[in-house]
Amino acid sequence: MSSVDILKEVAAEAAVCTKCDLCKGRTKAVPGEGNPQASILFIGEGPGFNEDRQGRPFVGPAGQFLDELLASINLKRSDVFITNVVKCRPPNNRDPEPGEIAACNDYLDRQIAAINPGVIVTLGRHSMAKFFGSEKVSMIHGRARRVDGRICIAMYHPAAGLHQTSLKDTIRVDFKKIPMIIEQAARMDAESKAKPEPPPVKEEPPQQMSLF
Ligand code: URA
Ligand code: SF4
Repeated sequence: MSSVDILKEVAAEAAVCTKCDLCKGRTKAVPGEGNPQASILFIGEGPGFNEDRQGRPFVGPAGQFLDELLASINLKRSDVFITNVVKCRPPNNRDPEPGEIAACNDYLDRQIAAINPGVIVTLGRHSMAKFFGSEKVSMIHGRARRVDGRICIAMYHPAAGLHQTSLKDTIRVDFKKIPMIIEQAARMDAESKAKPEPPPVKEEPPQQMSLF
């Protein structure tokens, strides 16, 4: 199946999914959208009010800030892919629960496999936990780490910048690192493709164990 077909399949399944209780309050599932071959994937938390109505990620105030951040590094939405750890809106915008994130994780994994981005940006702590474990976003924001052949960068959630102006500048500074990290991931990819096939592993005869 092509990456476009896998992404369509995920969207169709999420639209009618009942794997967790978030389905009860959903108007529309928000599977995510963007370039199916994007070199960079952004993973937020979960749909809010506006996203639930429209079925599209980051269309409210946090989304406006995200658009501004993308524009600051010359990226458009159509260059990137944007999704969330849970595809349905948590009631009253509460944090998604671990069980809900776990129930929805298969959709995210299939999206990552289909898009195969060189760079993953986690927005906020819920998507960060998938790649960085239990670290604190205040400690590791803006730092890149290799995970499964990709480069992952943890960032504050854009909504955090709306509530706290000092964080807005921190997020802007972190975003400026993205172009360099995309280049680095492209180099890593080119190098791994240029590498000759490793020589076949020679079968050594089993060593006789010496008892004395
Ligand atoms: N916040 C998120 O984490 N995701 C959205 O899609 C919108 C707001
Ligand atoms: Fe299914 Fe994910 Fe929606 Fe839960 S949040 S109902 S697992 S699509």
